[in-house]
Amino acid sequence: MTDQKKRFYIKSFGCQMNVYDSGRMADIMETEGYVATSDMEDADIVILNTCHIREKAAEKVYSELGRVRQIKDARREAGKDMLITVAGCVAQAEGEEIVKRAPAVDIIVGPQTYHRLPELVARAHGGQRHIVDTDFPEEDKFKHLPLGSRRSPSAFLTVQEGCDKFCTFCVVPYTRGVEFSRPVAEIVDEAERLVASGAREITLLGQNVNAYHGAAPDGATCRLAALLERLGQIEGIERLRYTTSHPADMDEDLIVAHRDHPKLMPYLHLPFQAGSDRILAAMNRKHRVADYLAIIERLRAVRPDIALSTDIIVGFPGETDKDFEATLKLVDTVKFAQAYSFKYSSRPGTPAARLEAQIPDAVKSERLQVLQAQLKRQQIAFNQSFAGRTLPVLFDRLGRNAGQIVGRSPYLQAVHVPEGPELLGTIAEVEIVTAGPNSLEGVVNH
Ligand code: SAH
Ligand code: SF4
Ligand code: F3S
Repeated sequence: MTDQKKRFYIKSFGCQMNVYDSGRMADIMETEGYVATSDMEDADIVILNTCHIREKAAEKVYSELGRVRQIKDARREAGKDMLITVAGCVAQAEGEEIVKRAPAVDIIVGPQTYHRLPELVARAHGGQRHIVDTDFPEEDKFKHLPLGSRRSPSAFLTVQEGCDKFCTFCVVPYTRGVEFSRPVAEIVDEAERLVASGAREITLLGQNVNAYHGAAPDGATCRLAALLERLGQIEGIERLRYTTSHPADMDEDLIVAHRDHPKLMPYLHLPFQAGSDRILAAMNRKHRVADYLAIIERLRAVRPDIALSTDIIVGFPGETDKDFEATLKLVDTVKFAQAYSFKYSSRPGTPAARLEAQIPDAVKSERLQVLQAQLKRQQIAFNQSFAGRTLPVLFDRLGRNAGQIVGRSPYLQAVHVPEGPELLGTIAEVEIVTAGPNSLEGVVNH
């Protein structure tokens, strides 16, 4: 009986790879006989999958832990136990420090060891407290992970992890470890299983996904363009995407793949971080503004309709008004369909945190506001250019209102249509009627 089963609750605080990891942890818990719950009060085990990228993200975990502890206490009074697990990049970065601030935590597990969850949970049930597992083991965690059968028309698949780039502001090389590419056969196998459980679109994930260099079955090294080509041969896959890319790894094969592979969507997320060569050098980004612009030009030459997205940081130490204006200028030149922009956040242990010329928060806020206003204008203009046009939409979720479903255009815009759930998992031609700042609305061409 389901009622007898133990329940797990899991919440993601981070990037798409963090969301993917949460899915794999859910697979583990289901294999262990647990069922998922969206109600924390019901949960025998709570897993918070955390993010360390900016101070705000990391601090959010501690306020959440305060809330979880209250629920744990209430459950205990009712004679029920609850294990609290902190997983992800804060777990990796802070380890034992977490139990000092939040002693109610039972298990701390990093992004490279969560395949050991069953063993860690057993130890906790055996009475051990404050278990910390933040190794970078030799073994490949993917070989030890069960694959569940969660159904979604659009799925993530991690193909590459870690990072050797060491941008001076970034914690990822420390929280995720060195760069590692999964072998092609393992990825093909996972993709086939995702398709069998209903996926039509797969987004390949990596901290530096275009640095992918996995082993092909014949022993040769396979780069991302070739991997995309191989996955495109799987029957049932209609759409492929990849994220996040680094400009220094944007090779010609990958660029022309956007012309040659019909399943590869015309959308690219390519962070540039800053529009001044001086700041890019201080960030250790390994590319200059001119390199970035050359890649964009080349991409648009082979695929004129490609939609571009990016990440930008304002207020990196030493950033002057002139440097910031160069960022605005680069945005103005490229014209992005979408973008994520952040105030620089000083992270413990990173080289940039030790730089003297830290920028006052008020200046960062003002720059962010100016930049975001400009990005928003570009996003609106991009969306509005689709009014009256017809786009193929892959429907992947129910809308908030009954009688409405939501899908994605090739350019990753959310598209709302008044249709029933029977269209989920299908691609239909949609005539766009209204274009808002964050989404489109339309009607299916029957
Ligand atoms: N691997 C990806 C990015 C990972 S983090 C890449 O290399 O592009 C996602 C984004 O967070 C980064 O692109 C950057 O814009 C932002 N970011 C990372 N560290 C930051 C920090 N210390 N302060 C503010 N933003 C940061
Ligand atoms: Fe961080 Fe830079 Fe690596 Fe991206 S490339 S994960 S920003 S160190
Ligand atoms: Fe955050 Fe870790 Fe992803 S720090 S952005 S969850 S890799």
